[in-house]
Amino acid sequence: MTALIDYRRDGRVALIGLSRPPVNALGQALRQALAEAFEQALADPQVQALVIHGQGRAFSAGADINEFGTPAAFETPGLASLLERLAQSPKPVIAAISGVALGGGLETALACGYRLCTQGATLGLPETRIGLLPGAGGTQRLPRLIGAQAALDMIISGEPVTATKALELGLVDRLVDNADTLLEAAVDFASALLETPAPAQRPWPHANPAQGLPADFFSAYATRHARRWHGQLAPQLALEAVRAACEGSLAEGLAKEQVLFAQLESSPQSAALRYQFFAQREALKVPGIDKHTARRTVAGVAVIGAGTMGGGIAMNFANAGIPVTLLELKGEALDRGLAHVRQQYDSAVKRGKLSPRQLDERMALITGTLEYADIAQADLVIEAVFESLAIKQNVFRTLDEVCKPGAILATNTSTLDVDLIAAVTRRPQDVIGLHFFSPANIMRLLEVVRGRETSAQVLATTLDLARRIDKIAVVSGVCFGFIGNRMLEPYAREAHRLVLEGATPAQVDGVLTDLGLAMGVLSMYDLAGIDVGYRVRESRRDAIAHDPSYCKLADELYAQGHHGQKTGRGFYRYNGRERIEDYEVVACAEVLANELGIARRTVSNEEIHDRCLFMLINEGVQLLDEGIAQRGGDIDLVWINGYGFPAWLGGPLYYAEQLGLQRVLAGIEHYREQLGDYGQMWFQPAPLLQRLVAGQHTHIQRL
Ligand code: CAA
Repeated sequence: MTALIDYRRDGRVALIGLSRPPVNALGQALRQALAEAFEQALADPQVQALVIHGQGRAFSAGADINEFGTPAAFETPGLASLLERLAQSPKPVIAAISGVALGGGLETALACGYRLCTQGATLGLPETRIGLLPGAGGTQRLPRLIGAQAALDMIISGEPVTATKALELGLVDRLVDNADTLLEAAVDFASALLETPAPAQRPWPHANPAQGLPADFFSAYATRHARRWHGQLAPQLALEAVRAACEGSLAEGLAKEQVLFAQLESSPQSAALRYQFFAQREALKVPGIDKHTARRTVAGVAVIGAGTMGGGIAMNFANAGIPVTLLELKGEALDRGLAHVRQQYDSAVKRGKLSPRQLDERMALITGTLEYADIAQADLVIEAVFESLAIKQNVFRTLDEVCKPGAILATNTSTLDVDLIAAVTRRPQDVIGLHFFSPANIMRLLEVVRGRETSAQVLATTLDLARRIDKIAVVSGVCFGFIGNRMLEPYAREAHRLVLEGATPAQVDGVLTDLGLAMGVLSMYDLAGIDVGYRVRESRRDAIAHDPSYCKLADELYAQGHHGQKTGRGFYRYNGRERIEDYEVVACAEVLANELGIARRTVSNEEIHDRCLFMLINEGVQLLDEGIAQRGGDIDLVWINGYGFPAWLGGPLYYAEQLGLQRVLAGIEHYREQLGDYGQMWFQPAPLLQRLVAGQHTHIQRL
């Protein structure tokens, strides 16, 4: 037997162990080895039942994602046909699951007649997250096992379920305490089946998976999710596949699933999402850091500032079971901050996302204080005070005085120079930037800013910690705005300027949301606060003073006290959360354009797209050249997880490659000429972009 399978016989039971670290991904070689082991067991007269299990930390994480987009994905034996053969085994086959059973891994278990899993196992069909659908029988067997509604929820959300939930759903037959006793339990289970004797396959519990559901169940489901699915193919086709499970035979449904799966597998959306999957893992590979780098223990955290951001940051740690102290200067502000945190948890309880007990446990992990002395023993301190260099430096001077040696001192600045903050301490090696995105307890992105002197130990510790609190960490070097906000600057600048030139805010935002962005940039400024944007500009007037039109309209809105959603007016008017176009803003843009000598005209959607997106991309390429970002994938992760860029477009730089780097460069050069002085001022192609195009490179990533 090949090394990919650990094959043993225990009495009448063949034990087939998948053995392809780290996660038993079902690539062609493993599929071949599994097929051979299966046939060997069937052919052995002494074997009367089979147990399939996974060696190591997973039963199986599913198909080998590296194979998609290559012929290997469908090379024989294909997973779907292998599982079809397994499902028709004349001898009972039992899946013994420990760790994860995901995608094709869970589909393997679904093709078995029986399933056991350990208490700690997780089971799921996450394929839609990489732009696919379960393509090895999952869309057909799962609805027949647990009913169409539960199956659809699992498939569309991609969210794995716990072992307990799996048992409740009827997805598994029995739970086993832990991985150490799993095989023994599986062999006992097999022996009991053989004694009964039980059939190799039982009749489906939900032979008609949609029974009891309203006739319009599928169309209503699609309507309910239409907004969230906007532009995405995978959930729509997954729904079609599950519908097929309810309307025809298993064989017909499996055939339909294959057709839909092939359509997705070759789609650009899935290619982009698979790229993202690997980018997320790649981002944690940072020069100078590896598994041998020493880590510091982080058992207690402190957060300075109990505002919305500080409270949100604190919640991340409480959610992960890490005690956190929230420090404020005034009792009132502290009480307000703690009340706000409780409010957020209360609302999670109301939505059924948290139990009242979990609320109490989490609140018990958060302690408020007004005294710096109370945070002296914290292993990590995160400052989340007002965005001003002087104020932050003062906080760090104090932290330097009070914190124990070896404490990691982090700043949550979104634009300021981390090195200048570190410089006021006697321990710049312990200082790092941890830029959380608002709302900090929800947004998954964490920009980890490596200062000039940040030690490898501190960086490695914070990257591990990011994982503990379920954040997607991306390392950035020090510059204004780091990766995300630095790129936001030229992108937003163009959006603002286009309104002066004749577009409306709704037109600009509409072009961006039509592309798939979660929010148009002007709506985003309204949400974040026009005053916040204004203060950022104030901090760098020197860099923008040469352009009198620079975000002029936003400056004017600020002067008028229209600070966005919180004041009911900004680029739009707000009636509660409803956004209404504001013709006074357009009138104001007209006046300003007149004063600035900008001729107003009809602006095409194409121009809005090209100017905003090409400037965004150009800045990203420049960040790579400067070494602020290590790879294109890091930049794409930041924009997808921090700024609502559509994941199915892969991120700004991946998108640039799909558009063609030549087209991006030509667009920048075109506007440089066409927009006169303004074009000359800002439309400067990044030298790396020029080099890439001159060298006829089509990829930014692989330079
Ligand atoms: N294919 C190929 N490689 C995979 C993989 C897969 N399905 N799953 C994980 N890996 C790789 C990762 O890229 C990573 O490689 P590196 O160490 O070289 O970076 C390594 O395995 C470990 O993965 P993680 O770093 O993610 O480890 P983790 O412990 O944090 O998470 C996991 C493990 C939960 C399995 C997570 O990797 C995961 O969610 N994997 C993807 C699961 C998935 O989407 N499966 C569906 C595949 S598509 C399918 O199955 C289609 C079908 O219907 C037939």
